[in-house]
Amino acid sequence: MSCSEDKKFSIAVVAGDGIGPEVISEARRVAEAAASADGVSLKWTEYPFGASHYLRTNEILPDSALNEMRAHSAMMLGAIGDPAVKPGILEQGILLRLRFEFDQYINLRPAMSLPNVPTPVPLNGRKIDSVVIRENTEDLYMGLGRVSEDGRLDAPMDLKRGGYSLTGRLSLEISPSMAFAAQTALNTEFGVERITRHACQMARRRGESVITVVSKSNAVPALYGFFEEIARKTADREFPEIKCNMANVDALCYHLVRDPAAYGVLLCPNLFGDIVSDLQAGLAGGMGTAAGGNIGDGLSMFEPVHGSAPDIAGTGRANPIAAVLSGALMLRHLGLDGSAGRVERAVSKYLEGSRGQDLPIEFGGNFTCRQIGEAIIKNI
Ligand code: IPM
Ligand code: MG
Repeated sequence: MSCSEDKKFSIAVVAGDGIGPEVISEARRVAEAAASADGVSLKWTEYPFGASHYLRTNEILPDSALNEMRAHSAMMLGAIGDPAVKPGILEQGILLRLRFEFDQYINLRPAMSLPNVPTPVPLNGRKIDSVVIRENTEDLYMGLGRVSEDGRLDAPMDLKRGGYSLTGRLSLEISPSMAFAAQTALNTEFGVERITRHACQMARRRGESVITVVSKSNAVPALYGFFEEIARKTADREFPEIKCNMANVDALCYHLVRDPAAYGVLLCPNLFGDIVSDLQAGLAGGMGTAAGGNIGDGLSMFEPVHGSAPDIAGTGRANPIAAVLSGALMLRHLGLDGSAGRVERAVSKYLEGSRGQDLPIEFGGNFTCRQIGEAIIKNI
């Protein structure tokens, strides 16, 4: 590849619903400004998927679009979900489908103290600098669930993942007959090994010698006892300098609230990672600044942790920092460490230099989504 080809990246974009388009628009402008300062250009392909496209066309996410997306260097996603669409349809049909189709097995969710961003718990001068590494393709998120109205259930449980395919049936009968629901969770050796590897690499990069494995083996021993065992074995075998601290998720939540600055890498199965990443985002300053990435060996996708917030969509009240910082994660993933650092420093500088009024509305200022984007760009 020639040098000039090296300097172009194509990015697929699903801005999505609610505040998605407005925050993504700022994230794009900031990422472009940072990358162009390093002589790199970003080319964006927009996809219309989300609630209004679905309501208009009945189309959720066609296979043809997946194939096109695959050819991009990375993807950005704003937010999916709208009160006009039954909960679950778009979340599963777009967001989870993208994560599974592209085998984005790492959900990366850092949380950091940022200047002038209030935290709900006193930190006594310490700083939060933690990262949830959430397994993103297994656990209770396999989509293998059924409701039985008549006390019997006999359903295929077939699925494909990046590294394996699963076939079989779930066959159950309950007596006395009554309606029930069953959802199957799976953690595989393959899945736990690869996410543990990533968590340990992250700890190594951060210069840390401990990861916290978020589990619940005392009550759910097969699923989470297995997760712990494979995580420990993988770390012992491949990262002898890194120690796994096992923590039951309930106790971990308690300690996270009492002392959020005490944690570094939190390795989580999918469901606990979903919950714990919201908790740590809340502790570090809120959804307005919580960035995320869905990373795999193929197409990776970067999205803020927050949802579509339809109540404030179009009002300018949305805080684009979470999307902007997700853009920084994307730049780093593309190997553009310099540009990523530029974005992160620009966000910090903007917040640090704020004198109140020019803070995001959620932090007591009156800056709109657009104005925040502009202020960050000025600091690039
Ligand atoms: C998240 C969200 C999703 C999840 C929903 C919208 C399906 O909560 O990205 O954390 O559960 O993973
Ligand atoms: Mg969530």
